[in-house]
Amino acid sequence: QSGYVTLDSGFKNTGATKSAITFLDGEKGILKYRGYSIEELAEKSTFLEVAYLLIYGSLPNQAQIDNFQHQISRHTLVHEDMKKFFDGFPSKSHPMGQLASLVCSLSAFYPESLDPHATAEEMDLTMIKLLGKMTTIVSWIYKKSLGHPVIYPQNKLDYVTNFLHMTFGQRTEDVEIDDVVVNAMNKLLILHADHEQNCSTSTVRIVGSSDCNLYASISAGISALWGPLHGGANQAVIEMLEKIKNDGGDVDKWVNKAKDKNDPFRLMGFGHRVYKNFDPRAKIIKKACDEILAKLGISDPVLDIAKKLEEVALNDPYFVDRKLYPNVDFYSGIIYRALGFPTEMFTVLFALGRLPGWIAQWKEMRENNDPIGRPRQIYIGENDRSYVEMSKR
Ligand code: SDX
Repeated sequence: QSGYVTLDSGFKNTGATKSAITFLDGEKGILKYRGYSIEELAEKSTFLEVAYLLIYGSLPNQAQIDNFQHQISRHTLVHEDMKKFFDGFPSKSHPMGQLASLVCSLSAFYPESLDPHATAEEMDLTMIKLLGKMTTIVSWIYKKSLGHPVIYPQNKLDYVTNFLHMTFGQRTEDVEIDDVVVNAMNKLLILHADHEQNCSTSTVRIVGSSDCNLYASISAGISALWGPLHGGANQAVIEMLEKIKNDGGDVDKWVNKAKDKNDPFRLMGFGHRVYKNFDPRAKIIKKACDEILAKLGISDPVLDIAKKLEEVALNDPYFVDRKLYPNVDFYSGIIYRALGFPTEMFTVLFALGRLPGWIAQWKEMRENNDPIGRPRQIYIGENDRSYVEMSKR
């Protein structure tokens, strides 16, 4: 190989870009969006305001947030022809596969999004359309999975309430869309909104770096997030906790399985590439679990198993030595479930939350004129072989 290449599998020690959007300190468990702490934003802000903050760089004043909400609410409808795609999916196909396809198909309905030299205003409209249509697409995927009729957006409602109305409205056992549910959803979406150069965000950036359009870049990010080692972990955590519950709740047995190198089982929702003490989001979500379940009058045995699992693992040298702590995915599914979402919708909800972060990062990549992503390799294959005729193989 010509030139000097440093091997860094998984980019564990590689800075891929410069960014002013999100700051993480893995040792101290610090997470900030545009300089504001996640603790303050989760407590005091709304998801739409945080989306504005991530994308435009500052907290909006009243006129700015009103205009942002107004622009988005004018773009919540999806083209009626998109229903053919929804109808084409097998009824039990995974929502993340549907979401990735449906978001990519927006580039077909809005071909102006394909122009890499669009003006800033045109690019802004392309982003606004995606923010508006994502809530409709996500809720329609859910309604289709139930065989229920889809519910159209009510644009006088705010962003999160409109999403919840499209998801849970007119359902046989109606979920009461009250302040508890709306506040819990805002908090969860805020906590998922961005996380610097994680796997799916790096995917969005590298696809966008080829001058590929926003919708296809975000669709690629959705696919990366689907994996159980990344966003798919929130679904895998609940499936794991259910399995432990059904196996008599023997937490020690499963913690030992997770430590056994010959056993592929891992404690889902544990560990993180950057956080080596605690994931600040997990702390907030764990606290919110107790509050929200109490307000909803729900007691979930799976929450008790999660807390017991955390307790055992945090006192086990295997996990302590490897600095493995609960991450954002460990408790989030318990709240989603309490709000009425089925397990297979959890990762789609992660994508809904991460959307403004992906958009902000893609926008920054374009504004900074980052070069096309093209890493090198260390070649370890065969050298200098001559072609062999079929008769001699
Ligand atoms: C997210 O990057 C982000 O910011 C992601 C995210 C975001 O907001 O975008 O925070 C969201 O994806 C959170 C992570 C969700 N994934 C899971 O919960 C899946 C379980 N966790 C792991 O698979 C793992 O911890 C990762 C994928 C999260 C991190 O993997 P790394 O950094 O590559 O670490 P590793 O796999 O090299 O593990 C280091 C050691 C290994 O043991 P040794 O070889 O040193 O003996 O820790 C062990 C691993 O076997 N280990 C685990 C474990 N996680 C790591 N052992 C048991 N259970 C686990 N969960």
